[in-house]
Amino acid sequence: MANRDIETGLSHSADGSGAQPRTLLRFLTCGSVDDGKSTLIGRLLHDTGQIPDDQMETLARDSARHGTAGDAVDFALLVDGLQAEREQGITIDVAYRYFSTERRKFIVADTPGHEEYTRNMATGASTADLAIVLVDARCGILAQTRRHSTIASLLGIRHMVLAVNKIDLVGYDDQAFCRIIEDFREFAEGLSFESLCAIPMSARHGDNVSGRSPKTPWYDGPSLLEHLETVDVEPRSCEKPFRFPVQYVSRPNADFRGFAGQIASGSIAVGDAVAVAKSGQTSVVRDIVTFDGALARAIEGQAVTLVLQDEIDVSRGNMLVAPDNRPHIADQFQARIIWFDADPLIPGRSYVLRTETDSVTATVTTLKHRVDINSFAHIAAKSLQMNDIGVCNLSTQAPLAFDAYDDNRVTGHFILIDRLTDRTVGAGLIDYPLRRAANVHWQALEVNRDARAALKHQKPAVIWFTGLSGSGKSTIANRLEKLLHARGHHTYMLDGDNVRHGLNRDLGFTDADRVENIRRVAEVAKLMADAGLIVIVSFISPFRSERRLAREMMVPGEFMEVFIDTPLEECARRDPKGLYKKAMNGEIQNFTGITSPYEPPLAPELHLKTLDAGPEELAMQIELLLGADRP
Ligand code: ADX
Repeated sequence: MANRDIETGLSHSADGSGAQPRTLLRFLTCGSVDDGKSTLIGRLLHDTGQIPDDQMETLARDSARHGTAGDAVDFALLVDGLQAEREQGITIDVAYRYFSTERRKFIVADTPGHEEYTRNMATGASTADLAIVLVDARCGILAQTRRHSTIASLLGIRHMVLAVNKIDLVGYDDQAFCRIIEDFREFAEGLSFESLCAIPMSARHGDNVSGRSPKTPWYDGPSLLEHLETVDVEPRSCEKPFRFPVQYVSRPNADFRGFAGQIASGSIAVGDAVAVAKSGQTSVVRDIVTFDGALARAIEGQAVTLVLQDEIDVSRGNMLVAPDNRPHIADQFQARIIWFDADPLIPGRSYVLRTETDSVTATVTTLKHRVDINSFAHIAAKSLQMNDIGVCNLSTQAPLAFDAYDDNRVTGHFILIDRLTDRTVGAGLIDYPLRRAANVHWQALEVNRDARAALKHQKPAVIWFTGLSGSGKSTIANRLEKLLHARGHHTYMLDGDNVRHGLNRDLGFTDADRVENIRRVAEVAKLMADAGLIVIVSFISPFRSERRLAREMMVPGEFMEVFIDTPLEECARRDPKGLYKKAMNGEIQNFTGITSPYEPPLAPELHLKTLDAGPEELAMQIELLLGADRP
């Protein structure tokens, strides 16, 4: 019988916690665009009496005009409040709704079902106790159902409801319901849910939403609301170690200095010892201040200001922690990354990594594998595409204080931000620090870069040529090196074609390979500048992101970006290596300017147009600029 199936792992009791104080359940809803999330949330709000009469009247009127529910009230309109959403019929952004019953209070995050859903799901899921994954009874389990369930599980949500919606549209057929559960069960074995409850329902007609429906006599499990009211979610634990990310230092006058923030986990009492995560300094809590007065003790979730006994160095971005149970401090770690962006994640590219307390530059050093959402198999991958989930090693510019995500969802998670567009492009869940990093130290050398440069009587520099293939980079770079050499400078030329014969012979022309190509050559250029040389780099280097990375690696003032600007048509006409002809005939893949992008510099130190002047003159212009501030 279906109902026995669906009770599997379910830990509710119908006459549960009536006398207890009302607890809070945070949940999120997800599913494909047409699965009926908004209708379901609207229905829950209605059935729990959150909608005043006048709003119901408006809703009834709107339903007649915009609705898709025939004569019935279209509850989706209630939730999809924005005009734009009504017109498009999809939900955008995470919207939080609040409702309550006698037994519990609820906060629901409504996450959208369209293309960019992972972005919002990851936002909504980080605080949720339970996920409702909706499926359309007519369509069954889809790739999106699997993906949402995998993400929910990854994000640490331990309780799940499979809402088999629109059961009216399959004639309240128990077989359809059973088939979907069987399908899902097979898949969900690989996920770590503590409770999984499947409910046949019709959000539109209210079947099994707040009360049990007479139309599904074959189902004797709980209605959705009954389940939500009674499901036994882990209480927010105060036993976890104390973590307090400092949001700001409150200093209203010279006598008061407090650290304000929200307790991410654990508890704290006056007289307890605390440590600053990164510096290791310790002190003791003197007062716990809140808007409503002083407290003797505060627990996870509370927003408080802590006053310490000693004047220790704590600023915004620090974390106060339990001295006997500290977080990891590391600049390399393994994490699971959920990628949201249309541009893929590429190892070696630098992103801004933001945790609750830190914001640092980070790169993925190794992409270990991608996770197949159906089989959970590990698949080799060179990049992560939109909505992919991957396991990576990351390296950050400065050490971070963190916990494993499985131990602490607040201090174990981060987001990745694109440095050029400022878009949030991914979310990460930290697994563990890589010890290896801590054992490699920087060796201090006695003959330093200044000494090396002084001996050569020159100021080191990296002159970075970028431009299309055939734009004239190598020709101009050659002339420049000759000029500098003739004046007695110590130079070295790194040319794309040449370096690709040796150091970078393993790399091709995919985006990922080009990123790695530039990363390596930038590292080499940096070493050479450190050796006191004037380094000339002549690579297409088509991406702004990696040119910026190269710039930031060098000593400030020593990097000069030279854009060799030749129109594509002219490069193709010159075609010195016959490559454009091949590319246009489809004989070469990923050819820059034809089938692979080139992002021109926005603010190069020099912008040289080769249609206006010959190589000799252009080389002299570079030398002039270079010589402007050198001996
Ligand atoms: S980069 O894009 O990774 O910076 P790089 O400067 O190292 O490129 O190499 C470019 C040179 O490789 C070109 O000048 C050309 O001679 C050769 N080449 C071969 N295939 C391609 C391709 N698909 N796209 C661009 N250049 C190619």
